[in-house]
Amino acid sequence: MDKFRIEGGFALKGEIAIGGSKNAALPLLAASLLADGETIIENIPGLNDILTFNNVMRVTGSRIDYDPESHRISIDPANLYYHEAPYDLVRKMRASFYMLGALLGRDGKARVSLPGGCAWGPRPVDLHLEGLRAFGAQIDLDQGYVVASAPENGLPGGTFSLKPSSVGATVNLLLAAARCAGSCTIRNAAKEPDVVQLCLFLEKMGAKIEGIGTSTLVIKGVDELKPVTFRNTSDRIEAGTYMILGAMHPDSDLTLTNVSTDELGQFPAWFHKTGAQSQSDAGRMRIISPAEIAPVSVITEIYPGFPTDLQAQWATLMTRAAGESHITDTIYPDRFSYVPELARLGADVYVKNNSAVIKGGRPLTGTSVMSTDLRASVSLVMAAMYARGTSDVLRVYHLDRGYEKLEEKLNQAGARITRVREN
Ligand code: UD1
Repeated sequence: MDKFRIEGGFALKGEIAIGGSKNAALPLLAASLLADGETIIENIPGLNDILTFNNVMRVTGSRIDYDPESHRISIDPANLYYHEAPYDLVRKMRASFYMLGALLGRDGKARVSLPGGCAWGPRPVDLHLEGLRAFGAQIDLDQGYVVASAPENGLPGGTFSLKPSSVGATVNLLLAAARCAGSCTIRNAAKEPDVVQLCLFLEKMGAKIEGIGTSTLVIKGVDELKPVTFRNTSDRIEAGTYMILGAMHPDSDLTLTNVSTDELGQFPAWFHKTGAQSQSDAGRMRIISPAEIAPVSVITEIYPGFPTDLQAQWATLMTRAAGESHITDTIYPDRFSYVPELARLGADVYVKNNSAVIKGGRPLTGTSVMSTDLRASVSLVMAAMYARGTSDVLRVYHLDRGYEKLEEKLNQAGARITRVREN
């Protein structure tokens, strides 16, 4: 397993380009299976999660050609004959569960492994299954697999309310509903940009969806969808991560390019409360770091609120703030595996209920740390970049799932990160 060796203390200067969004891309890949013929999607990031999903789609007999250099993918499911997503792949990445909605929506049948547990505690899929049942699917569980089928003429349709609102369930229900026989309504649907983009993609394919961007989506089924060419949006979580990085050192002067500034929700408002500033113009965002970071407590919420996918990075920023802050995760209350590792670097931080409590201002000192998930890993890399001395961040395979060329992008802006290959 590779690790990063990081020398701390260097300011970031120059430009970093934000890549295509991972979480927005995965639903598009799944949706492309709903139409026979070649779909082309641009701006697909070269990440291990994308490669995993490509393999999940290949299992079905679909043709997938992906070039991580040009970030272009071509998908043709004309020869799709096998309606299964096996455990070996689904356990590697939960979003493989999107195959359930895609295969059911396409051919009225699917056998998809249940994803199982997750490093952030329980992550149920009950809403995905109840929603599909409400739309008329037969759902059975068989030896760890979900076996789904639709009546011969397609899903009759129905209404389902998500409680709580869920990105993944909204995606699966949209995929299953696009070609249904009747009409499907999703109430309290997720409004995340990832879901909006999926709706626009499906619309371009010929789907009929009302309420895009609102919490009520009404899908009127169509007989057929056609393949399209589409450009994936840029990654708002990657952008937020680099915004935070740009604010952490008083001498940094970082400009981000390819930012979808209108998809950041309320995050910039929280960011500015720390004293950091950002100037945006046509997808470019210059970060002006504050001389002193103000402590800012945050509570994660669904979009456009503060994203749970940025709370670990925020915690790292807050270790440099002058005072106490609390980070509360209402979406994934157990998502604090990074806290003991931040403490190993010298931070004054502990978990109380579903909050991290941070007393900022203590200097961090380099050591070895490791973590169990993607965002926790990046938060430790960030902490190590500002710790005195050298740190090793172990298990960077988590980072390779979701941050494209992280060390390359950061080193080009002045960081000192070496990937140490270990077999
Ligand atoms: C997606 C993102 C993930 C992000 C999360 C919240 C992808 C691939 N992953 O995950 O990075 O952190 O949104 O923004 O896009 N829930 C249920 N039952 C269900 C489904 C969800 O109770 O059947 C709950 C969850 O436990 C959680 C909340 O709903 O408390 C939101 O989860 P959800 O939006 O579904 O997250 P994911 O789609 O898994």
